[in-house]
Amino acid sequence: MNQKSLPDAIPALFPKASDRDRIGSWLTLELEESLRRVQKGSVAPTIDMQKFRAELETFDFSKPRPLEDALRWTIERMEHGIVQMANPRYFGLFNPGANFPAQCADRIAGTFNPQLASSASSPVPVALESHVIRAVARRANFGEESTGHFATGGSEANYTALLCALTAAHANFSNQGVRAFAGPVKFYTSRDCHIAWLKIAHQAGVGRAALRLVDTDGCGRMDPQALLRAIDEDRAAGAIPLMVVATAGTTGGGMIDPLQACADIAEQQELWLHIDAAWGGAALASNRLRGVLDGIERADSITIDAHKWLATTMGCAIFLTTRGDLLSEAFHASTSFMPSSISGVDPYLNSVQWSRRFLGLRLFLALTAAGWEGLGAHVERGVAVIERIKERLLALGWKIANDSPLAVLDAIPPAGFGDVRTLVRRVVASGRAWVAPTLFEGRDVVRICAANGETGTEDVNALIAALNEGH
Ligand SMILES: Cc1ncc(COP(=O)(O)O)c(C=O)c1O
Repeated sequence: MNQKSLPDAIPALFPKASDRDRIGSWLTLELEESLRRVQKGSVAPTIDMQKFRAELETFDFSKPRPLEDALRWTIERMEHGIVQMANPRYFGLFNPGANFPAQCADRIAGTFNPQLASSASSPVPVALESHVIRAVARRANFGEESTGHFATGGSEANYTALLCALTAAHANFSNQGVRAFAGPVKFYTSRDCHIAWLKIAHQAGVGRAALRLVDTDGCGRMDPQALLRAIDEDRAAGAIPLMVVATAGTTGGGMIDPLQACADIAEQQELWLHIDAAWGGAALASNRLRGVLDGIERADSITIDAHKWLATTMGCAIFLTTRGDLLSEAFHASTSFMPSSISGVDPYLNSVQWSRRFLGLRLFLALTAAGWEGLGAHVERGVAVIERIKERLLALGWKIANDSPLAVLDAIPPAGFGDVRTLVRRVVASGRAWVAPTLFEGRDVVRICAANGETGTEDVNALIAALNEGH
């Protein structure tokens, strides 16, 4: 037997414990200081990208460099090279300033690096994730028989919904794909939906034309009569309607489609009902707000992103369904190398992913540390921030285009402020606040969202000043 010692582990990749300790403690302090500067600094990137690209070229990886230098360099570039979600004057898209328990979860997941594909590899994480899934399902009054999993994002969860709807609609879809259907398949969502649905249709092989964008009611919600008309027209033309997607919290205006009316139509027409509550689903955490989602319990499946309003680190989405059998049908596989293959339990047999990160720990720790009460207060706080901004803008002659009970405001500047896109560009370029331009019911609006959980009165004042500068 060869007793010669094996080569040492590569110290740059696997430093000894004392070096890990030293670098880890230093990194924690550096990040904390950097975060403090980020929260006070420019929300928009300030880096000279031409210079940065040239600098990047010097990394040709021919010789190693000290890790600490690389860490310092990365933090510094991150401090100036991104739109800062951690800044309380970020009133932007649904990306949150991440909560601290979720950041701790990422450290734990990174250290242990558990493989969440299988319950035999990771019995504790798999049981923990499924416990959190049940807790969220209960909050949505989703039946006790419901099941689900953590996904990388709302888009993956929504894609899973389309696969379930297809699998439910035809026994041969699993084997034959869309050839199993007697005509082109169709699914329905409002024209204010998240437009990743087009990519999802492409990805699933049903084609982008399978998506029918249904008219809204003039207030940013799907018009149920227009939905019915679209389904009737498609049936008359020989197409096969599959699924209704109601959005609970549209990306542009935070509007909630009429969930009960959509559920009635889906039921009468025998269609799958998916509720895309990627952002708005967070309202379930609040006893005061959860009523705005009445009807969500009638869905066949639901998407909720914890990495949006529940402020976990990205990507941490939840897919819920009452039809666990379809998940098992859509994602079944059989191999001899996996340590366990239990249908309905092992994540790799229930979801798009195979190798999986321990995503659910982020929400578990946030929920454990804050309770539903704390998460609910966080969500309500977002609504209070938006109410305050609304009050201030109305007093200054602005108009509000949307009427959302959630934490997004679509604001129209007074006459004489010029066009919305120029105004938004000016605000963003100032670095004092970050908002987005969007279209709401055909009008250009300034979209303002309470995306950061630490926004305070001074931050609201800074936003109002930036929006009204020169007037
Ligand atoms: C309503 C809605 N659905 C789906 C998505 C896509 O989610 P993700 O970016 O997590 O894939 C978004 C993203 O903003 C959204 O607002």
